[in-house]
Amino acid sequence: MFRLRPEARATVRVSVDGREVALPEGASAAAAVLAAGLAAIRETPVSGAKRLPYCMMGVCFDCLAEIDGVPNRQACMVEVREGMTIRPQRGARAIETDAE
Ligand code: FES
Repeated sequence: MFRLRPEARATVRVSVDGREVALPEGASAAAAVLAAGLAAIRETPVSGAKRLPYCMMGVCFDCLAEIDGVPNRQACMVEVREGMTIRPQRGARAIETDAE
């Protein structure tokens, strides 16, 4: 189970899929996801396998989430801020092209 350091003062409150979580300043949105105790923050588009943040350094993309209404954000690369809303990533990313 993921736990925040006991000496860290949790002063920033965010919402993770409707659950309020308090974290220290400078913590990542991925830490908030883990602290919230979700079973998954996204599912893979092909097999539907559940995913949670893993590497915490921008490599695995298992932390993709909708943060403040913007989908496909790597939660481990985003610092929490007061009032942030983090939701599970749904489906595959849409790719914009110039083709008509
Ligand atoms: S946890 Fe691996 S890229 Fe974010």
